Order: sequence, then C-alpha cells, then structure tokens
Amino acid sequence: MLNTNHNLLFKGIILALCVISFVHVFLFPLYDINVGRGGVRTYMDFEQSLCTNNIKKRRVWRLGRCPQYGIVTIMQGGRLGNQMWEYASVWALARRTGLEPYIPRCIKIKLDQVFEQLSIPTFGEIGHCPVEINHFVKSLEAWNYTNQSIILPRYSIQPELVLTWVQDIIQEFTIRKKLLQKSQQILHLAVKSSSVRNHTFVSIHVRRTDYISYLMRKHNAKPADVDFYKSAMNFFETKYRNVIFIVVSDDPPWCWRRFGFKSNVYVTSKYHRNSPALDMAILASCNHSIYDYGTFGEWGAILAGGETIYYNLSHHSSSRLGRILKNWHTI
Ligand SMILES: *[C@@H]1O[C@H](CO)[C@@H](O)[C@H](O)[C@H]1NC(C)=O
Ligand SMILES: *[C@@H]1O[C@H](CO)[C@@H](O)[C@H](O)[C@H]1NC(C)=O
Ligand SMILES: *[C@@H]1O[C@H](CO)[C@@H](O)[C@H](O)[C@H]1NC(C)=O
Ligand SMILES: *[C@@H]1O[C@H](CO)[C@@H](O)[C@H](O)[C@H]1NC(C)=O
Ligand SMILES: *[C@@H]1O[C@H](CO)[C@@H](O)[C@H](O)[C@H]1NC(C)=O
Repeated sequence: MLNTNHNLLFKGIILALCVISFVHVFLFPLYDINVGRGGVRTYMDFEQSLCTNNIKKRRVWRLGRCPQYGIVTIMQGGRLGNQMWEYASVWALARRTGLEPYIPRCIKIKLDQVFEQLSIPTFGEIGHCPVEINHFVKSLEAWNYTNQSIILPRYSIQPELVLTWVQDIIQEFTIRKKLLQKSQQILHLAVKSSSVRNHTFVSIHVRRTDYISYLMRKHNAKPADVDFYKSAMNFFETKYRNVIFIVVSDDPPWCWRRFGFKSNVYVTSKYHRNSPALDMAILASCNHSIYDYGTFGEWGAILAGGETIYYNLSHHSSSRLGRILKNWHTI
C-alpha cells in the first residue's frame, strides 16, 4: 500500500518535471527566437554589452512603450568620478538633442549608492524593445536626425555641455541624507574650538597612489608637490576667516605627514578608510575646494559649488572646467 503510494507520487513528480521542462525547452526558446529573428536584438541584450561586469538579464514583466525616436546612452567605465561624468554626459546630451536618455543598470546601481533622486531611466524600462544597432552614432557631431541614437564611449567627459546647466546637475546629484548627516558629523569633529561658530570649510582632495604613475604615462607630468597645496591653503586663509581644511585622500599618511601639524587641518580616513560615497559627500559638504586632479575631486568641487583652486595640468579636463566656471582658478 505504502509502496503504491510512493510510486504514484514518484510518477506525479516525473510528470510535473516533464511539463516544466517542456514549457522551458519549447515555449521560452520560441519566445526568444521570435525576438531574435532577423538579427534584431533587444535593449536587454544591448545593456549587457555596455557594462564592464556582467549584469543579470531580467525578465521583463511589464511591457512599457518603446522609444519612438533615437535614444542617448553610454558605456560604463572607470570608478565613481568617471561614472558621474558618464551619467551627466547622457543627461546633458538628452537635453541638448531632445532624445530620450537611458543608462545601463550597472551605472545606475553604482550611482544609487550615493545619490537619491537620479532621474534617468535604465534599460530595464525598455528591455523588451528591439534595438537598431546600425542607427547608432558615437557623438553629438555625428548625429543629424531624430531617428538616430547616440552611444557615447566610456570615460566621456563633456564639461561644455554638462556645465551649461551646472545648478541642475548639482540638483540631479543630490546626495543621500544618511551620507550628508555622516559628513556633517565629520566636519564637526574637525572643529576643535567650539567658541567660534562661523567656520569656512575648505576641502583638499589629494590624489596619489596609482594616479602618480598614470600622470607620468598619460600627461608626462609629476604629481603636485607640497607647495601647490600650501599656496592654495594660503589663498583661502587670506581670503576667509576661521578656515578649517578637510583633507580627503587615497593616501592619508602622506597628507598627515605634510599637513597634520597645522591645527586647522583635519585628515579624514586616518584610522579607517571611508567609502568613496562618504568621501564624495564630505567634499560636497565643504564650502570651497582645493583639488589636484582626477574626476573624483573634480566632482567633489563641482558639487560643493564654491571657489575652487585646481592644479594647472594641461590637457586635463580641469582646465576645460576652469574656462567655463568663473569661480575656478589655478595657482
Ligand atoms: C549625417 O552626418 C554625417 C557626418 O557626420 C554625414 O556624412 C551624413 O551625410 C549626414 N546624413 C544626413 C542624412 O544628413
Ligand atoms: C523615423 O521613425 C519613424 C517612426 O519609427 C518613421 O516613420 C520614419 O520614417 C523614420 N524616419 C527616418 C528618416 O528614418
Ligand atoms: C560667516 O562667514 C561667511 C564667509 O566667511 C560670511 O559670508 C558670513 O557673512 C558670515 N556669517 C556670520 C553670521 O558671521
Ligand atoms: C559652509 O559649510 C557648512 C557645512 O556644510 C554649512 O553648514 C554652512 O552653511 C556653509 N556656509 C556657507 C556660507 O555656505
Ligand atoms: C598653465 O600652465 C601652462 C604651462 O604649462 C601655462 O602656459 C598656462 O598659462 C597656465 N595656466 C594658468 C591658468 O595659469
């Protein structure tokens, strides 16, 4: 009796497995073949080719409308600072052209850790839609009608376009409240004497480690020396009262040895490394900025929105920003 019951159960399971695999083998592939016929691929496939790490394909349940005209998008590359430029370039190019912007989910996931109201949709919204690869051009200059899409290369930096709407991009990159609260706590730690209320916080972003060899390779340049930071600090101390310097760096011990002796200098990450997200929040929370090079410090200074002293490095994007933004200077 028991045996027969087991047998029945076993047969039932086999039957269920057969039905499930029939559905999988025969129905889902049919669905895929339909989509794939004629070499037309979907934006879901397309998104995979834009990300540096493999991103899981997601089944699209809600079939929204597909783009009527071209779109603007970009390939992922680099770390937080680069990906902020990539996002901002898509954002600005969409404004300029009237095309719909879409970013790959890999960029969105990265930036969502830092910002709370990013408005550009991901390919998740149009994953089921067919993509016409041969309608893509690679720059605004090559684009000449609304059915064409634009795909920017990774590491794109478009300051002339993005900073046309500098207040709006600062708004777009609104930092998460948790990170802002944390960075305010850190600024308060930096204030040693509580008798003075009205401080001027000036961030110093010092990029060293791997960037030093990159500077040599790419720009044939030496890293900024201590004099650069000292002159910049001097500039702010002469101009503002009660200046507190907040140092953010990938090499805190170096900074500590050079500037730690000054009573109004606070080196962050001295005991344990802050996340890049928190470092960005700290830079953005300061009133003014000093930075040497690199897209991370560059964005910190843009978001802070104050006066900025940057290191004069020809062919670096900072010199383009310096020409556009009135409150950016070299020393
Ligand atoms: C679009 O621009 C390219 C140059 O970028 C040009 O060769 C091409 O003829 C233009 N196409 C149209 C339809 O205007
Ligand atoms: C642009 O796309 C629309 C709608 O898909 C189509 O009707 C039109 O013919 C296209 N125009 C060009 C120049 O390809
Ligand atoms: C605080 O300092 C800033 C800049 O140094 C100045 O513009 C502002 O008027 C000061 N506010 C007070 C209440 O002293
Ligand atoms: C300077 O930054 C601090 C910390 O973020 C802020 O509380 C203060 O309002 C800022 N001061 C000015 C004049 O913007
Ligand atoms: C930056 O340095 C170059 C020489 O490398 C010089 O010609 C240029 O005037 C400097 N720019 C500024 C704004 O000081």
